[in-house]
Amino acid sequence: MFERIERVPGDAILGLIEAFKQDPNPEKVDLGVGVYRDAHGETPVLASVKKAEARLLESERTKSYIGSHGDPEYGRAILSLVLGADSPVLADDRASVTQSPGGTGALRLAADFIRSQLPNSSIWLSNPTWPNHTGIFEAAGISMERYPYVSDDNRLDFEAMRDCLERIPEGDVVLLHACCHNPSGFDLNHEQWQEVLNIVKRRRLLPLIDFAYQGFGDGLEADAHGARLLADNLDEAIITSSCSKNFGLYRERTGALIMIARDSEQMQNVRSQIAITARENYSNPPAHGAAVVREILSDATLRAEWEEEVTGMRDRINSLRHDFVEALAPHGLSDRFAFIREQRGMFSYTGLSPQQVDRLRDEFAIYMVRSGRANVAGLSADRLDYVARAIASVVD
Ligand code: LMR
Repeated sequence: MFERIERVPGDAILGLIEAFKQDPNPEKVDLGVGVYRDAHGETPVLASVKKAEARLLESERTKSYIGSHGDPEYGRAILSLVLGADSPVLADDRASVTQSPGGTGALRLAADFIRSQLPNSSIWLSNPTWPNHTGIFEAAGISMERYPYVSDDNRLDFEAMRDCLERIPEGDVVLLHACCHNPSGFDLNHEQWQEVLNIVKRRRLLPLIDFAYQGFGDGLEADAHGARLLADNLDEAIITSSCSKNFGLYRERTGALIMIARDSEQMQNVRSQIAITARENYSNPPAHGAAVVREILSDATLRAEWEEEVTGMRDRINSLRHDFVEALAPHGLSDRFAFIREQRGMFSYTGLSPQQVDRLRDEFAIYMVRSGRANVAGLSADRLDYVARAIASVVD
């Protein structure tokens, strides 16, 4: 039967990891997949994570199942990290949390829930969005629509977004990026979040907030502004959270699905559905990454150390944004690329065309996603001039 199976191209983002590894050019620069890199181009295990792992090695007593919702202590820690320690949603006991295999696993749980429990709802994704959003919702069998987000001249087009949101049919789901929009790096300001809240409330839409980069934009608390505004002021919301980036736990697959309902009773109903969905997908989530996060968040010293490490990663990215624009100045390009300073998180939509991205790869061994998305964290002080020169030569 397999003779009828067609070969398909692999995932464009993950494929860049392999292509980069294979490239023998010693000058090569990886601005592709969204992983944080330090000044040496490494993605090291955080010191706070290493310490938590050492403790776990001593204290862990069983590898038995943890249940479909995962570790309750991890869940409580994530709820408070995402929604805030003094969240009215938590006080009202109307948020359910489920440990998931990464943010992607949480998105897939949300997608399966929407498909089975809200079968008439379409989902609206920003244009552009993380390509895997499309893959996940398509795999779950949900009909997808787009709302505008970035204009042709590479700016956040909030007016177009707002006008579109106003026309979305009642009961549909709107996927919003909590912060550090992937791929564009353009985030909503507080006023714009307020407008989104007003529309979502008035139009009776269901927000699904993808929160994969908490701490990478302006701070752990500041980055939660939009998610908390919506959670506190709406009866219903879905949040997917990831520990891949802020805890550097990428391959440990550590995330959470948060389902917010009108009251505790309805939340328990929703929660029961999510347990079944998890059971049918993978039964129990992987435990190790969540145990590490639980150790860190529940210990004041480890938590302080981790928060400092997150600050360090964020500051490095933000200073690279400034230095990169400076490096473009001698080529007369600092105005053209000034927006890089304003964008937030690891990614920058550069406005480069797929052909220009191809040239960067073929002529300079600089790798980025063909949409023109660059992972700013992949830059380093000693490569800024090289990358700036390369960009200057392809945009001329
Ligand atoms: C990215 O967008 O590069 C990251 O979120 C990694 C991934 O899974 O695609």
